[in-house]
Amino acid sequence: MSDAIFEIRRATEADVTALTDFGARTFRESFGKDNTAEDMEKHLNSAWRQDLQRAEVLDPSIDTLIAVSNGTLAGFAMVREQHAPPGVATLQPVELWRFYVDKPWQGRGLAQALMTAVEASARTRGGRELWLGVWERNERAQAFYRKCGFEKVGTQIFVVGSDPQTDHVMLRKLA
Ligand SMILES: CC(C)(COP(=O)(O)OP(=O)(O)OC[C@H]1O[C@@H](n2cnc3c(N)ncnc32)[C@H](O)[C@@H]1OP(=O)(O)O)[C@@H](O)C(=O)NCCC(=O)NCCS
Repeated sequence: MSDAIFEIRRATEADVTALTDFGARTFRESFGKDNTAEDMEKHLNSAWRQDLQRAEVLDPSIDTLIAVSNGTLAGFAMVREQHAPPGVATLQPVELWRFYVDKPWQGRGLAQALMTAVEASARTRGGRELWLGVWERNERAQAFYRKCGFEKVGTQIFVVGSDPQTDHVMLRKLA
């Protein structure tokens, strides 16, 4: 699949069903083995529902970027105007809220292309810094973000179902 082609564009309302299915599936595939079934269901029901994704896609303070190949979702990112957690000094922060690449596309450069689109979106919003939270046990994602210029600047709690988990807060400046 080295010649596989994808495009990155903003999601529209027509993408909501596919986005909801993709977001729930990739979250479960990424973290299902590290969480109880109950916590996983609780999280998916609270975060991945078509009514929520429709509102997110239409929300002017959020950019939902999707990578599409042959009409199928291969990855997505959500960028939103959101302050960084207390203790993290920023001038004009933008949050990289969600960032997922489907397994067959990992390690093939799609994530880098998506990150370039994320940076452009954050700059268009006037962002001076891009920040994110990543689970302390998600070493692949941390390695990817370091490669993209992010550094760990703190921690925050992210609740999956009823389980409070520690995220690393990572930040990079936008030139
Ligand atoms: C995080 C994600 C977007 C990164 O995209 P990717 O295409 O996998 O990224 P890359 O392969 O370019 O980079 C990952 C790096 O981690 C390295 N890596 C792979 N497995 C690793 C592991 N278990 N521990 C540490 N590093 C690891 C890779 O070697 C690579 O570094 P290299 O390019 O120097 O060799 C993608 O893996 C993904 O969607 N994962 C599942 C969902 C997720 O975790 N999203 C982030 C939520 S915050």
